[in-house]
Amino acid sequence: MATAIAHPNIALVKYWGKQTGPGNRPATPSLSITVAGLTTTTRVEAAERDSVCINGECRREPKVETLLDAMRDTFDLPPVAIDTRNDFPTGAGLASSASGFAALVTALDGEFGLGMSSAARSDWARQGSASAARSIYGGFATLAPGDDVWTGAELQAKDSWPLEVVIAVTEESPKDVSSSQGMERSRTTSPFYHAWCRSTETDFETACRAVAQHDFESLSDVAEHSCLKLHALMLSSRPGLLYWNEATVAAIDTVRRLRTAGTPVFFTIDAGPQVKAVCAPGHGGGVAALLARSPGVLRVVRGQLGDGARLVGEPPPP
Ligand code: DP6
Repeated sequence: MATAIAHPNIALVKYWGKQTGPGNRPATPSLSITVAGLTTTTRVEAAERDSVCINGECRREPKVETLLDAMRDTFDLPPVAIDTRNDFPTGAGLASSASGFAALVTALDGEFGLGMSSAARSDWARQGSASAARSIYGGFATLAPGDDVWTGAELQAKDSWPLEVVIAVTEESPKDVSSSQGMERSRTTSPFYHAWCRSTETDFETACRAVAQHDFESLSDVAEHSCLKLHALMLSSRPGLLYWNEATVAAIDTVRRLRTAGTPVFFTIDAGPQVKAVCAPGHGGGVAALLARSPGVLRVVRGQLGDGARLVGEPPPP
């Protein structure tokens, strides 16, 4: 039996849209931060047949089945019992599929001695859920086209620029339209889809530069732009995708007012109503106190930059 843990990641330059064909390859490069403070713990062991239990509830998980089938074309994998637990809401825009697939691939690699490099784990995790490719890595991670593959990589270690994260939870229930369904709807119906893909390449380069230079202002600017552009794309899909609620909008306003008053903080939002505030080192406490009082916020969760997926009992990967 092997147990692995992984943290969700928050995209600062977003992935939304897939290339056609196999392999779950994104249409856009993306950059994220891996966030400690939220954790998925996954245990795997050989069994008589495959099973998946998430937070104690056992059910069919087509994406997991597809990934196991694909891995069995390469590895000699027996049937497996998978038990996975999140200490945060599942499927509510907090990237549980990212930490879930990163932890799963890492646990399978550990239990069955598959001998994967980080790049190989990232590649398999991507096939489960593309954002999971980034949760294999800690700190600042990218998912971008390499020579002939889409590959994840660590752009910078967590300690090199220890940004802080405050998540304003505005709803605990799972979303109605999953990311996979939503992005396919945007690809096939939004008149803005091609402009989104083209412009995201430039955003990605700008954000990588900002991270390399620890330029918080430039990172804030490009990250909020990528987020709002993503939600404009979602709104322009047919039927339109609206993941926000009233509290989401109020929290955006709270973050903007804080920044105007001099606090180095910016917001980002994924396919859900939670608002994630990213702050320069040392500002998490003040931002959390104000966001907790923002209308409609149920609770705030504070996080630091975290490590990549790893087996429990082993040190984080270098
Ligand atoms: C808005 O990685 O969940 O969080 O590959 O279909 O599983 P699939 O999608 P997923 O999409 C994440 C979308 C996002 C942006 C991001 O994380 O880059």
